[in-house]
Amino acid sequence: MPEIVLQGVTKRFGTTVAVDGLTARICNREFFVVVGPTGCGKTTLLRLLAGLIHPDQGEIRFDGVSVRGMSPRERGVRMVFQGQDYALYPHLEVYHPERWSNLSFPLRLQGERTRRIQERVQRVVQRLGIQPAWFPRKPRELSEGEKQKVALGRATVLSPKVFLLDEPLAHLDPPARAKAREEIRRLHAELGTTTVYVTHDLAEAFILGDRVAVMCAGKFLQVGSPTELQDHPADAFVAEFVRSYREGLRQAFGV
Ligand SMILES: Nc1ncnc2c1ncn2[C@@H]1O[C@H](COP(=O)(O)OP(=O)(O)O)[C@@H](O)[C@H]1O
Ligand SMILES: [Mg+2]
Repeated sequence: MPEIVLQGVTKRFGTTVAVDGLTARICNREFFVVVGPTGCGKTTLLRLLAGLIHPDQGEIRFDGVSVRGMSPRERGVRMVFQGQDYALYPHLEVYHPERWSNLSFPLRLQGERTRRIQERVQRVVQRLGIQPAWFPRKPRELSEGEKQKVALGRATVLSPKVFLLDEPLAHLDPPARAKAREEIRRLHAELGTTTVYVTHDLAEAFILGDRVAVMCAGKFLQVGSPTELQDHPADAFVAEFVRSYREGLRQAFGV
């Protein structure tokens, strides 16, 4: 929901400058994709937006208000984490209305009653096609696609204002990935969130993004629509990135 503004945001780890003086504006309800090679600072940027870590310099504003010192919950932010386990709770089942479980966790943490938990979970279960047969399972007893749906479900039971996704499809096979992309796009529209989606895959960025930011060494080299990036790359890095994407398409489909 909110418009997000980054003003000169810098984050260092020792001598590494992970995010380097980043200035950008992400529009209300935009699907904003950040794409760049491993180590360029994408995850750090999402963690800064979530409020899990804090900038050394610069400011982040949601709808014109600084979020400095605000917790992820106060910011209305939910994040789907990178990696094979999506940071699901390994020892908890997918869902149980009266116990701490992966899908009920954020609601119980808020002190919601069982009835309300059931209503909210029912909605995400329907929205995402989560099967009741998975409810008693632990995350390790789910396939990649199933885990990914549960992670999306857990992140959206509280209808976030800002939805952050860190390479959520990297572990899915190509057909499942295409389907999951559609679901994420639909979820974004239904929730009316401002979504920041991180990937190292330019094809994915072009399919999903209203606008795409090409990131390299902690900086945005260019921010624009997929068409703008392809037709008018701002520098040699972006041009090469787009060229290798086109080359990939040519090899795969002969176009
Ligand atoms: N907690 C940390 N401690 C030290 N260095 C870190 C930490 N997190 C990230 N980095 C470094 O910051 C840079 C950016 O990392 P990251 O944001 O994870 O990149 P990406 O998600 O694009 O792969 C890398 O050089 C990484 O090694
Ligand atoms: Mg990362």
